[in-house]
Amino acid sequence: MFNLIRIILKYHLVLFLFSFSFYAIANEVPDGNKLFQKHCSECHQKDGNSEDNNIPKIAGFSAILTFDILDQFKSDDRKSIPIKTKANEDKDDEEKDSKETDMNAIAKKLKTNEIEAISLFLANQTSKPKTQEYDQELATLGKQIHMDLCENCHVEEGASNIEDAPILKGQWKNYLQRQFAELSEIKRYMPKRMKKRFRKLSENDKKALIEFYISPTIIK
Ligand code: HEC
Ligand code: HEC
Repeated sequence: MFNLIRIILKYHLVLFLFSFSFYAIANEVPDGNKLFQKHCSECHQKDGNSEDNNIPKIAGFSAILTFDILDQFKSDDRKSIPIKTKANEDKDDEEKDSKETDMNAIAKKLKTNEIEAISLFLANQTSKPKTQEYDQELATLGKQIHMDLCENCHVEEGASNIEDAPILKGQWKNYLQRQFAELSEIKRYMPKRMKKRFRKLSENDKKALIEFYISPTIIK
């Protein structure tokens, strides 16, 4: 059932992409850039390349993937982990109850056509991978594991969106560690083929993969 809904939603987005120009002529398409600057940029930056290591970089994610993830937040299929972000720390006392980020609440405020517009906007942004301090030995092991088990969906060492999987290369380490933990406890959706492979990973394999994702794209 879950998968069926997912397929219907993806189909909806594909239809939307086809009819985009007609909508645009009729002036009914919300401006994805404006919406993103208004609701998202304080945390994810203007182009989705977040500068806070607790907030994921989402620039260059495919439109289908972003649409799918925001829909999961909207329907509570994925629970966002409450995070104290720098943007929230700056808020004054009156807004104290919103000091922790809640992507579920944020997504619930958006209409479907607004999510579509934001997803298209993000797909047109360029991902700027952030190389972070990494362990060379672990990263080399991580690359082997990635190439064996993950590369066919997280293409180009995890730097490409071509298979509608998240860009992992240059993602913030904090965020990767949190999501590896969530995925290990099967707290969020992942494709069946990923689940099968993810289950096989030892704790050291997971560490190695993270070191690989935060290392520069080409490791000798
Ligand atoms: C107050 C800060 C904040 C705002 C505003 C915010 N986000 Fe987020 N976003 C986060 C944090 C923190 C996470 C990570 C949540 C987690 O780890 O579960 C996140 C996660 C995400 C993810 C999941 C990324 C992934 O790799 O799976 C997407 C997509 C996303 N946000 C899109 C948006 C969009 C679109 C908006 C505007 C409508 C927005 N966010 C507004 C802080 C924010
Ligand atoms: C069948 C394709 C496929 C394979 C194989 C696969 N993944 Fe994924 N992966 C995905 C998709 C699609 C998502 C997004 C799931 C969602 O939230 O909707 C994802 C999500 C993730 C995330 C969460 C990233 C984020 O931004 O929140 C991580 C981490 C991840 N995969 C790591 C891996 C690792 C490590 C492997 C290899 C052991 C792997 N994946 C194999 C398709 C795949």
